Order: sequence, then C-alpha cells, then structure tokens
Amino acid sequence: MYQSWEELENECKKCTKCKLSNNRNSVVIGTGNKNAKIMFVGEGPGADEDMQGIPFVGKAGKLMDKAFEGVGIKREEVYIANIVKCRPPNNRNPEYEEAEACMEYLESQIKLINPEIIVLLGNVALKNILGKEYGITSSRGKWFEKDGIKHLPTFHPAALLRDETKKIDFWNDLKKLQFV
Ligand code: URA
Repeated sequence: MYQSWEELENECKKCTKCKLSNNRNSVVIGTGNKNAKIMFVGEGPGADEDMQGIPFVGKAGKLMDKAFEGVGIKREEVYIANIVKCRPPNNRNPEYEEAEACMEYLESQIKLINPEIIVLLGNVALKNILGKEYGITSSRGKWFEKDGIKHLPTFHPAALLRDETKKIDFWNDLKKLQFV
C-alpha cells in the first residue's frame, strides 16, 4: 500500500508488474479531486487515454461528461480512475493477472481519497471490486457497502455507445449522486 500520492505516482510511472506496461505510451493513473466524495472506477485506458495520460477523454468519456453535465456533476469535483492503469491491446478486457497486479494502486488511491461513494463503471470494475459473482445488469442502480464505502454499479459509458437504450438507466443511476 502506498502512503502518499508522490510515492504512488512514482511507482505507477515505472511499473512493469504486468505485460500491459510493454506497449504503453502513458500510465493513466487518475484525474480529479484527491479529496473527492465520489470516485468513479472504469476498466482501463483506451487509445486516447493512453496518448493523453488522462482517463475517459475519448468517445466514452465525452458521453460521460455530457451525462455529468446533465445531472450537475463536475468532473473536477470527483476523482476518476480505472482498474488497470495501462491500455490493454485492442481495448480487450484486462486479464485477471493484470487487474490483480494493478489493484494495489487502486486500493491506495481509495485509501488516500477516502471517498463516501465509489461508482463502478461496468462489469470489469464491478467484478474486480465487489466480486466475480456480481453482474452489471442485475446490480446496476443498487447500493452495496464495502469497507465502509457505498458502491454504486452502473453501465460503462462505452456500453451506452453500443446500446442507446441503456442511457436512461445510466442517467438515473448518476442522479442518485446529485445530493451527495
Ligand atoms: N474506458 C475506461 O474504462 N476507462 C477509460 O479511461 C477510458 C475508457
């Protein structure tokens, strides 16, 4: 576990704990308010994120920004990170070993931020944080308590790009955060 942001960021930048480090342009650590009440966890960087070093700046991120605007969430008030910090090739799901190798970084981020709520974006975040037995379709929009933190699973914004009918559920889930 890393006790300071400096230590965490230095370790992340030189990390070679899994093979995702081989082809990265950037380590995408996270962005936003390090004292946030709400933290979002996605899956892993895509091509745009890998180039810019910032999570959720591509197509899915732009859609998430739009939804944030709609419900009054400010990107700079929340903190956004991913299960894995380096881009999986062709945007495939991170493998178990990759997620496992990277988990200490995310756990340290959670400890340092100490958020009230963690929003789990999609199945990869859900299963790696709450457990393999959970599925996004049945869990989304429901609250789960873990380590004294409320967890809210919802769809990954990329899923909304593939299936527009999911947008309304995503918006309704985000609305649950409005009064935090
Ligand atoms: N998808 C993710 O899960 N994370 C990002 O940072 C970008 C796209």
